Amino acid sequence: VGDLTAADLEGKRVFVRADLNVPLDDNQNITDDTRVRAAIPTIQYLISNGAKVILSSHLGRPKGVTPKFSLAPLVPRLSELLGIEVIKADDVIGPEVEKLVSTLPNGSVLLLENVRFYKEEEKNDPEFAKKLASLADLYVNDAFGTAHRAHASTEGVTKFLKPSVAGFLLQKELDYLVGAVSNPNRPFAAIVGGSKVSSKIGVIESLLEKCDILLLGGGMIFTFYKAQGLSVGASLVEEDKLELATSLLAKAKEKGVSLLLPSDVVIADKFAPDANSKIVPASEIPDGWMGLDIGPDSVASFSSTLETTKTVIWNGPMGAIAKKLADLSGKGVTTIIGGGDSVAAVEKVGVAAVMSHISTGGGASLELLEGKELPGVVALDEAVAVAV
Ligand code: 3PG
Repeated sequence: VGDLTAADLEGKRVFVRADLNVPLDDNQNITDDTRVRAAIPTIQYLISNGAKVILSSHLGRPKGVTPKFSLAPLVPRLSELLGIEVIKADDVIGPEVEKLVSTLPNGSVLLLENVRFYKEEEKNDPEFAKKLASLADLYVNDAFGTAHRAHASTEGVTKFLKPSVAGFLLQKELDYLVGAVSNPNRPFAAIVGGSKVSSKIGVIESLLEKCDILLLGGGMIFTFYKAQGLSVGASLVEEDKLELATSLLAKAKEKGVSLLLPSDVVIADKFAPDANSKIVPASEIPDGWMGLDIGPDSVASFSSTLETTKTVIWNGPMGAIAKKLADLSGKGVTTIIGGGDSVAAVEKVGVAAVMSHISTGGGASLELLEGKELPGVVALDEAVAVAV
């Protein structure tokens, strides 16, 4: 997607769109700095090559200027990680920002205020995009987590600022979530979890075209069980997705994909802390009991199935498998953790560092895994430079 390393950067003003949308506590402290750390390699590369970095991000979903959504809490962490004093602008565009840009030394970073303080951002307003573009000589999109949004700072700006290239994080996300998934070392297993079939239809359909093994977990399995004629007691089932579940099972068969559902489940007699719980085979859920999680036999059989693989992608919470993936990563298996809940599960178990790739995107990684094009990527200078 264009090549950042080919650009002449000395003295150039570079508009970098990052996704610094991090969680903050009530005292405005960053509670998870993963996205800040992920943004550093591109910024570091730019400043070491003498560029003047104009750094932009959104934070949350503010309606107009809202102090609690200011990017100010990012400044100390960015400064610490970059080893330089990051300068902060109080606005996104306008004379004050222009003045700060004009006095920026080479190798420095100016952090603009939350770009969503302007409603024009989400509207992808061309005039606003033009103003963002006028601040710089070159555009770098490294905001993978926001690449599924066609906003002024992710899409519109590219119409007015060339070259427009991908940063290192965006490129790495594409290499794994598109490249490694479309052209995997085989056998390739996908693990998909989540409470609802409906939110994962696109991902399952798309992965069925590519993977050799599909392991399903999470609350959605009860809809699949019911579709297979099993009794599911009081488990949550999407009645209107039973046909779809049946057709996904049929499609797996037709494609020669080995689709595995958990063989045993943890069930409870009510949804409360003092509930009675037990482990039963998937075919023996009694009336009135509800399924909560996959059982130990399933964890063991999923784990031994995964032993045979060379590439694994995991989307959706299924904490019990995280350690197994870490172990496989150590043996040279490519392990890709696709966004959102699964990232939290991997971090909770403390095995994040050993995975081949952990996506920084939630919605963006889901859309990519569904096989959709992301507007923030399509808008860049060259077609996606990964094997599709
Ligand atoms: C995210 O956290 O998924 C991204 O930063 C995008 O945020 P949004 O859903 O508010 O556009």
